[in-house]
Amino acid sequence: MAQTILALGSLMPKEMEALESHFSVIRLWKEKDPEAALQKYKNEITGIVSTWETPVSERLIAALPNLEIIGQCAVGIDNIDLKAAKARGIIVTNTPGVLTDDTADIALALILATARRIVEADMYVRVGKWLNGDMPLGTSVSGKTAGIIGMGRIGRAIAKRCEAFNMKIIYNSPHKKDVPYEYYKDLKVMAAACDFLVVACSGGAPTQNLVDYKVLESLGPKGIVVNIARGSVINENDLLIALRNKVIGGAGLDVYTKEPHVPEAMFSMDNVVLLPHVGSATHETRSKMSQLVVDNLLAHFSGQPLKTPVAA
Ligand code: DGY
Repeated sequence: MAQTILALGSLMPKEMEALESHFSVIRLWKEKDPEAALQKYKNEITGIVSTWETPVSERLIAALPNLEIIGQCAVGIDNIDLKAAKARGIIVTNTPGVLTDDTADIALALILATARRIVEADMYVRVGKWLNGDMPLGTSVSGKTAGIIGMGRIGRAIAKRCEAFNMKIIYNSPHKKDVPYEYYKDLKVMAAACDFLVVACSGGAPTQNLVDYKVLESLGPKGIVVNIARGSVINENDLLIALRNKVIGGAGLDVYTKEPHVPEAMFSMDNVVLLPHVGSATHETRSKMSQLVVDNLLAHFSGQPLKTPVAA
C-alpha cells in the first residue's frame, strides 16, 4: 500500500503529479476542515511535505504517531521544530544547492536596485517626471565593500558576484571559513567597515535579531542593508527606526518577520526596495527544489540513501 504524505504546501505542478503517482497525498490546504482531515489520517501519515511558509510545529509532529520524514521544499528549515523531530528520530531533508545561484542573483539585484534607485527610476519615467528634469543621483556599487553575514553556499555565491563588480568582500560568521576574504568576528565592527551589509545566514533562534539598532548605527547613514535570508535576522523595529531617521542609507529586503505582511510604514519610504520573498522564485529552481523533495521521499521509503538530509 502506498505511503501517505501530508502536503502542507504545494510543489511545482509536474513534481506534485510525480509525488501523487508514488504516494497517497493529502493536500492539507485544500481540505475544508484541515483539523478533521488530520484526525482522520493521523495514523496513516508517514511523511510531510513542507515549505518555508508552513510551520511544522511540535504539536503537528506529536499528532502524527507514525511520521518518519519531513521533506522541506527550501534550504531554510527554521519553520520546523527540529528538536521535536529529533526527539522522535524523524528525518528532515531540505533543498540546498539548487537555489544558490538564483538567491545570490536576487541579493545583487537588491544591491543594485537600492543603490542605483532602479525601482524609483522606473516610476520616474512612467509617471512623466523625467519631462520635468533629471532624477536625483544614486550611489556607485563598483569598488565598494560588501560585508556578508554568513559564508555558506549562498554567501559565497554573493561574494563571487560582488567580485565581478570590483567590490571588496568582508564577512562575518561564527567561525572563520576557508575563503580569501577578510573575516570579522564582531558584526558591529564589520558593519562599520562596509557599504553594503548583506544578510545571507540561516534563520532561527541562533541568528534572531542579529542585526539590531547598534549594528545599523555602525553601518551608518550611507550604508545599505540587504536581506535575502530570513526576516528574523534583522530586528524589524530597529530597522524601521533606522530607516525613518536616516541612520542608514537604505534597505533592500526580500524577507520579513511576518510574511506575507510587510510593515506598512515601509510602503512610503523611498529608501527601501521591497520584494515578496522571491530568492528562489524561478521556474527552473522551484522545479529542482520540488524534484529534490520527491527524490528524498522516494529514497527514504525505498531504503536508499537520502539525497540531501539535514544533519541530525
Ligand atoms: C529557502 O529555500 O529557504 C528560501 O527562502 C525559499 O525561497
